[in-house]
Amino acid sequence: IEKLEQLYEGKAKRIYKTNDPNLLFVAYKDSATAFNGEKKEEITGKGRLNNEISTLIFEKLTANGIENHFVKRLSETEQLVKKVTIIPLEVVVRNVVAGSLSKRIGIEEGTEIKEPLVEFYYKDDALGDPLITEDHIALLQIATKDQVSTLKALARQVNEVLKAHFLSCDVRLIDFKLEFGLTDEGNIILADEVSPDTCRLWDIHTNEKFDKDVFRRGIGSLTDAYEVILTRLGGQKECT
Ligand code: C5P
Repeated sequence: IEKLEQLYEGKAKRIYKTNDPNLLFVAYKDSATAFNGEKKEEITGKGRLNNEISTLIFEKLTANGIENHFVKRLSETEQLVKKVTIIPLEVVVRNVVAGSLSKRIGIEEGTEIKEPLVEFYYKDDALGDPLITEDHIALLQIATKDQVSTLKALARQVNEVLKAHFLSCDVRLIDFKLEFGLTDEGNIILADEVSPDTCRLWDIHTNEKFDKDVFRRGIGSLTDAYEVILTRLGGQKECT
């Protein structure tokens, strides 16, 4: 498979065409950004870590019957993925109160949530990715009611698989963000990435943070934290 011209450059990844119209090349970058791009740093090794972690997670999801865009890891920083049309929603699942939820509703970070919470954010940089309701999704004609139900069901399934998997690696899955895409056949599949950039991951015993909050809050080395996750997911220690 051949890497052709760049289609898109995001904050953390570059996307390229390939000689197969149904497949894209994804190159993970070493850039770390937070607060809608306000805080920015180059961190050597971040691209490799996210590519490897994301690969392990997509493989786990595939093994559990959750359809996703991942095809193959190609190199330290590159993946081959299926081409889909991204639905402009960030689907966030929360098991424990943290981050923006804690700020918005005034519940202390670390409080357990009984029934996993699913939220939708409208992917729009100019608007700052606002939280939106299902009625807003209908108003904006982003997705049908049925598609929204599918997104919620898929997000909950991903949560069940990943929560159990991380737990077996002594990691608490606090919350995470997913993006979905439509295939040419009109099926909704998981896309984008699942990595410590897009999840909150805390040590099961100490609640030490091994995710992008380390960078956002300036509380340690991002690569040290992501190495812990890679190792626990199977770099060294075997998990179920
Ligand atoms: O900031 P907030 O608490 O809403 O984030 C919830 C989860 O979604 C966190 O795991 C965060 O890393 C992820 N997220 C993301 N990309 C965004 C916003 C949030 O990956 N643009």
